[in-house]
Amino acid sequence: MAEKRIVLLGPPGAGKGTQAQWLCDALDLPHLATGNILRSAIANNTPVGQKVKPFIEAGKLVPDEVVISVVEEAVETVKKEKQGAGGYILDGFPRTRRQGEALRDVLAKRKEKLDRVILINTPDEVVRERLEQRRSCMNPLCGAVYNVKSNPPKKADVCDLCGNALVIRDDDKPETIRSRQQQYWHDTAPLIDFYERASLLTEIDGTGSVHEVAGRILEAVAKIGRRSADSRRQKAIDDKKDGPPKIEPAPKQ
Ligand code: AP5
Repeated sequence: MAEKRIVLLGPPGAGKGTQAQWLCDALDLPHLATGNILRSAIANNTPVGQKVKPFIEAGKLVPDEVVISVVEEAVETVKKEKQGAGGYILDGFPRTRRQGEALRDVLAKRKEKLDRVILINTPDEVVRERLEQRRSCMNPLCGAVYNVKSNPPKKADVCDLCGNALVIRDDDKPETIRSRQQQYWHDTAPLIDFYERASLLTEIDGTGSVHEVAGRILEAVAKIGRRSADSRRQKAIDDKKDGPPKIEPAPKQ
């Protein structure tokens, strides 16, 4: 499949990471998840990790300038690894209007574009329950995500993929979940309007099984090519309606 740039947008626990994992496999695209990148920086005690740790633990957004440069670096790495191919699934970025503008400007500078922003719309009470039931692999290089109800590991508290222990993320405690939800509605939800105005938004229902949600996302992704062909066709029709460009007569001397 051609290189696509897709953003998964939605509240904490909407299923962005879960959906991104199989979508990346299906489209053969790298998964750029800012939460995973930042948690791995904390685990490795890097300067970025030290800077972001208190924000993540408190369920607060990391400052824009830090996360923007982290994403720029990740995109560059992907380009090098994929030998110039620039597609990816962004999960957890952008999360503020400023991040959205930074992404738009960086893409414009590279003469690239975002293909679609998929909003996984999931009510607060559903995501709260999902987050309380989430178990994550403690190995930052694995990062597998489970759910004690909807997606339990084969052996309790052990990762199926790498055998490391499963833990409750520090920011999945009830009071931190509340803070992350508030932060989403205050800082991230305005991006819905931002991307709607840019005609890039597809909103899908995030309730139901992982499989059902995946089906809705796949449908949205399948429309990407068609949508741009439709808009090219519409532009051709509009151009025809307006007729050939009018040439103003030269002013009489
Ligand atoms: P991040 O890791 O991005 O956290 P988040 O956005 O809060 O998202 P989550 O990972 O909590 O949820 P998800 O939507 O991926 O759901 P998941 O698939 O795991 O960010 C963490 C922190 O890093 C932030 O709070 C912030 O501090 C910082 N940060 C990151 N990016 C930043 C940015 N751009 N700017 C500033 N700061 C940033 O699913 C959740 C659970 O539900 C799992 O157990 C899963 O198995 C289950 N589940 C999923 N789908 C379904 C389903 N359909 N049915 C039943 N269960 C399901």
